[in-house]
Amino acid sequence: MIQESTLEQALKDLFAHIQFQSEPEGLYDPLRYMISLGGKRIRPRLCLLTYGIFREDLGPWLLEPAAGLEVFHTFTLIHDDIMDRSALRRGSQTVWKKWDEDTAILSGDVMCIDAYKRMAQAPAQVLPQVLNLFSRTASEVCDGQQMDMDFEKHDHVSMEQYMQMIGLKTGVLIACAAQMGALIGGADTRNQQCLYDYGYNLGLAFQVADDYLDAYGDEKVFGKPIGGDILNAKKSWLTIKAEQLGAAGIAEALKAPAETDEEKTAKIARVKALYDSVNVADAAKGTIADLSGRAILKAAEADLPEEGLDALKRFAHSLVGRSF
Ligand code: IPE
Ligand code: IPE
Ligand code: MG
Ligand code: MG
Ligand code: MG
Repeated sequence: MIQESTLEQALKDLFAHIQFQSEPEGLYDPLRYMISLGGKRIRPRLCLLTYGIFREDLGPWLLEPAAGLEVFHTFTLIHDDIMDRSALRRGSQTVWKKWDEDTAILSGDVMCIDAYKRMAQAPAQVLPQVLNLFSRTASEVCDGQQMDMDFEKHDHVSMEQYMQMIGLKTGVLIACAAQMGALIGGADTRNQQCLYDYGYNLGLAFQVADDYLDAYGDEKVFGKPIGGDILNAKKSWLTIKAEQLGAAGIAEALKAPAETDEEKTAKIARVKALYDSVNVADAAKGTIADLSGRAILKAAEADLPEEGLDALKRFAHSLVGRSF
């Protein structure tokens, strides 16, 4: 088992020294910009953590695929910000705002390819499994992102459809990160599956928390504009739950125009008043705790040393255990 402090240092060093092609600058500067803004880096951290449960040695065979997970994730954010018309990411201007949409599209594309190059550095004996896992995951993320966009135009989305959508856009990549560390670390398939399921449920909890923070968070901490989901008429967890709890008029309120600043402020206030009328914020906190608990139960089904399970519990807590 590798100590968490050792893993943290390895993660820090990895991104402090990460190299990308230098030219053309117009293609690689936006990529370097987004990676250097940081973010929480939860996916590579989780990959290192699950690996460290099974092995003692660190090297590029693990660190490069772990970096690939973060590069891939960051690529999805660059494209997501175009799709969601979002101006702020990681507390700074989004790529499409700072440069333009064409730049954001192509820099995103090259990041996706860069991620594959890093995956390809996994040990030869597990490389086919690593590439299968990663490719399946990457296409599932696209499936989820398409569903997310489609749902904006639907009047009604069920909680079941929503959970399927967030499982794809967010759950599978966190699940993939958890499994990948175990896979490269030589874990058997049963342990790999338990850790995948841990990551998947944690990913669901994480996305419900993200939806909650999109309406109720502090922009300075969240690093993204508050109320963006409401302005985009997203079928977020809050919207779907509020409807279930009987808040009438949510669908109409989400359709209200939001061109001017006044209209935007009024729309966010109106939808949040409907959320508050059925106390959907508390319901979200309950669901986040339930999903995180389910993640830990999945990890507990794996055959792991006690300190390994403890580390996974701490990781879950650090991700979604704060009081919202
Ligand atoms: C944002 O992911 C997209 C979601 C899945 C909610 P993160 O919240 O992990 O973003 P960064 O990497 O820390 O910026
Ligand atoms: C994004 O979901 C998930 C992916 C990028 C795949 P969101 O649209 O909720 O993410 P944020 O809130 O912009 O980070
Ligand atoms: Mg989105
Ligand atoms: Mg978004
Ligand atoms: Mg969001």
